[in-house]
Amino acid sequence: MVFSLPKRLFSCSSLLRNRAIIYTSNGPVTQALSIITYQPLPPPPPNTINIKFILAPINPADLNTIEGVYPSKPSLSSNLSSSGKGSKDEPVFVAGNEGLAEVVDVGEGVSGLEKGTWVVMDKPQVGTWATSRNVGVKDVIRLPFGKLNGLSEAHGATMTVNPTTAYNMLDSFIQLSEGDWIIQNGANSAVGKLVIQIAKIRGLKTINFVRSRDNLSELVKELEKLGATKVLTYDDLYDKSIRGKVKEWTGGKDIRLALNCVGGEPAAAIAKLLGSNAHLVSYGAMSKKPLSLPTSLFIFKNLTSHGFWQTRWSKENSRHKKAALIGTLAEWMTQGKLKAPDHENLTIFRHDSDEEATQKVRETLRRVAEGKVGKKVLFKLEDVNA
Ligand SMILES: NC(=O)c1ccc[n+]([C@@H]2O[C@H](COP(=O)([O-])OP(=O)(O)OC[C@H]3O[C@@H](n4cnc5c(N)ncnc54)[C@H](OP(=O)(O)O)[C@@H]3O)[C@@H](O)[C@H]2O)c1
Repeated sequence: MVFSLPKRLFSCSSLLRNRAIIYTSNGPVTQALSIITYQPLPPPPPNTINIKFILAPINPADLNTIEGVYPSKPSLSSNLSSSGKGSKDEPVFVAGNEGLAEVVDVGEGVSGLEKGTWVVMDKPQVGTWATSRNVGVKDVIRLPFGKLNGLSEAHGATMTVNPTTAYNMLDSFIQLSEGDWIIQNGANSAVGKLVIQIAKIRGLKTINFVRSRDNLSELVKELEKLGATKVLTYDDLYDKSIRGKVKEWTGGKDIRLALNCVGGEPAAAIAKLLGSNAHLVSYGAMSKKPLSLPTSLFIFKNLTSHGFWQTRWSKENSRHKKAALIGTLAEWMTQGKLKAPDHENLTIFRHDSDEEATQKVRETLRRVAEGKVGKKVLFKLEDVNA
């Protein structure tokens, strides 16, 4: 008679090993990144929690961070393994800034966070492209809603960067009232779509510019469905007739806020459509072209040109204010007023070897860097049997 031990003795969660997408020095994403498998997390020390990531997005800034050209830097991790990569002798950077995680264990002295609670990151560059991490209680913000309340994993995973940016840019520079107009380029970016939706909630009207493409009419319909008032291409923006059209739509009312994530000519051209005492807010430079503005806009129209960085906003504002903003956004999401971004999940399966997983990650990042994906890619890393 063959005697076998119950399987669950070998499959309890404490025996699952972790995975992370790491780099040891800055460089192109297709070369710098690799996957390591590391030991299960020990129980959390006091005032810390162990969290398990559910989904974590690739944002444009993640690529810049890995390349070493982004001002917000991660810290080295040296406690993942006792030897090799991730150990004291070979510390690594764990990539990823944003993500949705579930609390799996709480240390002594932790209150308000229980096993199963969904959290998002408050601290930048925590290293979210991993299965599990140990973090301080103040490194995360508890989500007021979870999957049982209708919040999707994709909503949660993309909560702290783009929706907050869109909300704050509409809120921080000028007081806008219902019926006011704003203008933006890169309107089909994830941030641009959130600007459209939040503007709609606030009763603001939007003039949106995008790059021309084969399926332009589909994109126009999609943005209009989100609440865009007008959607046009940069060719329309550079046409002399645009000034007259805008005047007709707005009834001559000055536009006082322009949002720019592209730079170069599409930025200067939207600035030229602004009225007096207006604000141009730049939050990205997707074209990699410098921002160059006619001096006359400053002299004769009293234009103010600002930069917005959500990381700075986050440092300058209280946890209470941040949690309140997350609460507002999460509520709108559960009410169907803010759509999750178009996305595809990239799963790193338990059975993928580190080498196979590394190839998958590099290939995906290559497509993202070349602008070939057209939607958000969200990492789902499975832990590995011991
Ligand atoms: N400052 C902050 O706090 C903050 C926060 C969040 C995001 N951001 C920045 O906001 C930008 C958008 O982020 P996202 O996550 O919304 O990105 P996303 O969804 O990946 O969208 C990228 C956008 O950039 C456009 N684009 C790409 N290359 C371009 C080029 N050469 N010329 C003109 N347009 C180009 C794309 O248009 P096509 O569809 O035509 O390719 C698309 O509209 C990024 O620069 C990001 O770093 C900044």
